[in-house]
Amino acid sequence: MTSIFRDDLFSGRVALVTGGGTGIGLGIAEALARHGADLAIVSRKAENVGPSADRIAGATGRRCLALTADVRQPEAVEAAVDQIVAELGGLEIVVNNAAGNFYCPSGELSPNGFGTVIDIDAKGTWNVSRAAYRARMKDHGGQILNISATLHHGGTPGQVHVAAAKAAVDAMTRTLAVEWGSLGIRVNAIAPGPIAETEGARRLFSGERADRLQRMIPTRRLGTIDDIVSLALFVLSEAASNINGAVIVSDGGLSLTGRFGIEP
Ligand code: COA
Repeated sequence: MTSIFRDDLFSGRVALVTGGGTGIGLGIAEALARHGADLAIVSRKAENVGPSADRIAGATGRRCLALTADVRQPEAVEAAVDQIVAELGGLEIVVNNAAGNFYCPSGELSPNGFGTVIDIDAKGTWNVSRAAYRARMKDHGGQILNISATLHHGGTPGQVHVAAAKAAVDAMTRTLAVEWGSLGIRVNAIAPGPIAETEGARRLFSGERADRLQRMIPTRRLGTIDDIVSLALFVLSEAASNINGAVIVSDGGLSLTGRFGIEP
């Protein structure tokens, strides 16, 4: 993708992207590096971040750490944040992108299945935001960008666990934006609709379901990773310095139709 943004937009900044080794997280991580940031990508699986970090560093000339930590474990998150600040010299941008999802009708979902997604999406977002705040942002300001969703804006069958978790992410976005705004910390969220070629797409819609979804989307196309990357760069840039506590939808207008394409 040819970027409309300045090459040095994020130079001198240090970023952390959770789930930054694949999909939307990788897209955002690579774009931040291409626009001057040094960064760390974090995943619970080393194989998800090692090769991606090497590729980002090789392609951009920026520093890119590959860190292994499960966002569900506060101590592991705090250690990763401390390592980033020590090795890269700061932490101005956090992108809470790590998430878990699977389709499961509510009556068949186990307590642990529900709790696992709450732990990854909601508690994980909190663990990383809290660690970044305490280690760096409370004294130096910064930005937190949460990757939310649209499936909880209405009701989406088979997604009760994810809907509850993403609603919590949106609530945290607004609450922390208000509480930390005076410290120079902006907290926002992007709510992607269906995005093609992601793990979420593979799990929730593919084949005939993707075709049907495409016909339901007012713009008649699925979203792309580049759509979300461009929006993330804008929200994290100074051009958006008055945007705080916003949950910005990028879904071609699908959520206005009241349907996500998964039928009961
Ligand atoms: N349907 C119903 N329940 C499921 C399920 C499915 N497809 N997949 C997992 N679960 C349940 C498990 O049965 C388990 O509950 P139980 O102990 O009552 O049996 C619980 O969820 C935890 O599963 P487990 O596989 O131990 O969790 P994990 O921590 O290894 O993996 C997940 C987390 C389940 C979210 C896994 O799908 C994952 O790692 N996802 C990351 C990638 C991803 O989801 N990307 C898309 C983001 S949009």
